[in-house]
Amino acid sequence: MYLPIGSTTPRSLLIDCLGAGRNVKERRGHAPGDQSPKQLVAPFQTVRSLCFALLWRSFITCGSRVDRIAYVRKSEMSDNPLRLRKIHHVELWVGNAKQSSYYFREAFGFSQIAYRGLETLDRQETSFVLRQNKATLVCTASYEPESEIQKRVALRGDSVKDICFAVDDVDTTFAEVVRRGAEPIAEPHDLEDENGKVRRATIATYGDVVHSFIDTSQYDGPFLPGYEQAIVETEDTGILTFDHMVGNVGFGDMEKWANWYSDVLGFERFLEFRDDDISTKYSALMSIVMSGQVIKFPINEPAEGLNKSQIEEYLDYHQGPGVQHIAMLTSDILRTVARLRENGVQFIDVPGTYYEEVPNRVGTIDEQIRDLANLGVLVDRDEDGYLLQLFTQPVMDRPTLFIEIIQRKGSRGFGQGNFQALFESIEREQARRGNL
Ligand SMILES: [Fe+2]
Repeated sequence: MYLPIGSTTPRSLLIDCLGAGRNVKERRGHAPGDQSPKQLVAPFQTVRSLCFALLWRSFITCGSRVDRIAYVRKSEMSDNPLRLRKIHHVELWVGNAKQSSYYFREAFGFSQIAYRGLETLDRQETSFVLRQNKATLVCTASYEPESEIQKRVALRGDSVKDICFAVDDVDTTFAEVVRRGAEPIAEPHDLEDENGKVRRATIATYGDVVHSFIDTSQYDGPFLPGYEQAIVETEDTGILTFDHMVGNVGFGDMEKWANWYSDVLGFERFLEFRDDDISTKYSALMSIVMSGQVIKFPINEPAEGLNKSQIEEYLDYHQGPGVQHIAMLTSDILRTVARLRENGVQFIDVPGTYYEEVPNRVGTIDEQIRDLANLGVLVDRDEDGYLLQLFTQPVMDRPTLFIEIIQRKGSRGFGQGNFQALFESIEREQARRGNL
């Protein structure tokens, strides 16, 4: 399905001009007997100036919408009675853990630190543990065709299963969240090997994603009991830790899950977007950002548009709610994105003219605009400072999980001014897949 050309509204022109960017040949296809790529590009180029002028009018309009976002700041200093200390790790259930871990190593610069599988006498599952500074990923697959892992992979594709918190006291945390209404998945239990003992418990969140709580204070092994040290060092790309993780939930479920994170995990609302904040002619989304002391969890739900929203597309291909993207923090996004691009990571396309208005929109920044443009890095400012960010293409076969790289220079937001650009860029890719 191709994007419409010749529409007259600013919104549709905005979408058109994004589609008429530098990769127009690839986006619109080129069958034998078609016009040559040059012939295809030429008419678009003649309207690009007009299109991008309209694009920036849209950003100005978008800015007035951003003013309506409600900030709730007290959450940053609120109590943390559950003693959530940090994100211990994020576990993905995948079809082929060896190849998934190779991808995160070679493309994103994670080093392998531990392994379990047949060689460690695990007859059911295999896991590869990857770490870069304070960010730990676990890729897990199953040997058993009828296992829960295999069934989930068949249903959802490779996907995040567990966002695991390190806590001081698993029993206390688990008892409290269950008292507050959490659905237990695994009661507190010990895992042991020759390196010591780990206490762990698990509760359900949206979809079939879970949160585990883990206490490793009495453990001295390479990762968790059952894992052996298996180091494969990779040159890092500057990823420091997880910044935030975004969940997509179904129509009308955002409030429910925002309330769940508030009532059960003690998070508070940090930002809110509504469908009139983030929308295009085609589709829209609504988002609430829940802020805890260790992480922020934005939650999206689809909003009504003329066509299927990108959140709805995710829900269709994921067969239900799940983690939409993981944002990874860097202190040098130019270095990180350059390295990732060298490693073959594919990012969303950012039109070159995006950068013409950056000085007016965000004012003085430390970076050279041409360096941002060369790498396609986005920039946005709020009253606290600015941030730089860029989003990968989906890292799975399905249009589901993607990765965000983010650098913060004062800003605690999520790039609201870029949200529209992201939204439309994802929609453009969605149109290429015939799902818009
Ligand atoms: Fe994000």
